[in-house]
Amino acid sequence: MKLFTKTFGCQMNFADSDEMGRALKSRGFFATEDQDGADAVLVNTCTVRELAEHKAMSYIGRLEEWKSVNPRRLVMVTGCAAERTKETIQRRFPHVDLVVGAIDIEHFPVRLDDLLAAKPPLSAEESSADERLVPPPMALGKSGVIQYVTIMRGCNYACTYCIVPAVRGPEIYRPSGEIMVDIAARVAEGAKEIWLLGQTVNSYRPADRPDYDFSNLLREAAAVPGLGRLRFTSPHPHYLTDKLVAAMRDVPQVCEHLHLPVQSGSDVMLKKMRRNYTRASYLEGLKRLRAAVPGIAITTDLIAGFPGETDADHAATLSLIKEAGFASAYCFKYSPRPGTPAAAMIDDVPQAVKEARVNELLELSDNQGRDHAAALIGTEQEVLVEENKGELGWRGKTRGAWQIRLPAEGVTLGQTVRARVTSAYSRELRGELV
Ligand code: 5AD
Ligand code: SF4
Repeated sequence: MKLFTKTFGCQMNFADSDEMGRALKSRGFFATEDQDGADAVLVNTCTVRELAEHKAMSYIGRLEEWKSVNPRRLVMVTGCAAERTKETIQRRFPHVDLVVGAIDIEHFPVRLDDLLAAKPPLSAEESSADERLVPPPMALGKSGVIQYVTIMRGCNYACTYCIVPAVRGPEIYRPSGEIMVDIAARVAEGAKEIWLLGQTVNSYRPADRPDYDFSNLLREAAAVPGLGRLRFTSPHPHYLTDKLVAAMRDVPQVCEHLHLPVQSGSDVMLKKMRRNYTRASYLEGLKRLRAAVPGIAITTDLIAGFPGETDADHAATLSLIKEAGFASAYCFKYSPRPGTPAAAMIDDVPQAVKEARVNELLELSDNQGRDHAAALIGTEQEVLVEENKGELGWRGKTRGAWQIRLPAEGVTLGQTVRARVTSAYSRELRGELV
């Protein structure tokens, strides 16, 4: 039985898709990249902005035609938009066989078993001859060089724009022992780089171990034999403690890159967003980090056009891009989400102004990123080889998370090599082996 997976949204969602894929795999499914030839489709949805939800919903709508080819095909819808709009999905899309919201994601295997018992998909006799010739299921996911391990679920923050706490619930921490077992299993499967994931990943603090926090987890994870690289996302600036900075400095596997969402450069906006830090304290955190981990690349998320945002607030975000020296920024137009505190504020920044502001943020951060990339020309970098691009050579990442293209000869998948940066095209580096 062939499974096609479509994932919208953040890395948490990709990790969840991977986990659900494992549950499906152990029940006889294997992954295909060809939706038309699939027997089941898993759609893992996002609702962080209205547009993300729309995309997922229209995708689900289009699956009606896909399903009409054979009514025994299965459509499973999961994730954050599914959590928010369960009833609507069931009402609007009768071709959907299973809906599991983000809060219930851990119960996916049980719900799947119920579904498979009620609506068995193709039996072995019905599947085509060449399908039966296909070797045993391959690992789901792409090359497997980079793997995600979820360490916590949910979020205890209440940022006023954000729907995540509503669709993913309060924080739940996985026991560190379980996390270590998962990391070791991924490494045994061939993973060279592990990403520890959580909505506010560095707030990790299991209740039964009072002195154990995220920095301890990093140190313990790095001790798993065979682990090459360690990254984590997304950290919250509030928990950029000295203890964490020290762990990032001391643990060689932790890469010199941090994606630290700031959202705005204006204290007025930060307060209204209820972010629990100021521009100055955010910058002070970066200063401590850069002193401990020289050359670390910092990337961020920015929101343009939050309710009440003035030209001066926007100018403060532009100036923060420079002052913080971001290597790149994901920039979003504010999108009111139903039920969030900000949705009750007047969404007073006109669409055209939001658009203009987000474009300014993008342009400035992109140009700055290009300068950072150009400054790397001539330097030697450690590169993890992630993907074969055929005639175009190999694609990998530096420790600072820059994409880099290497020539086709003398490299294999999953290898860590030394490369000299020869040029930079926009944000992608080109390199040669040294
Ligand atoms: N509107 C626009 N952007 C948002 N984000 C979260 N909620 C919203 C919203 N309502 C952005 C934040 C967050 C990223 C994942 O998405 O920048 O860090
Ligand atoms: Fe989207 Fe947030 Fe859910 Fe991730 S956690 S899929 S960003 S709504």
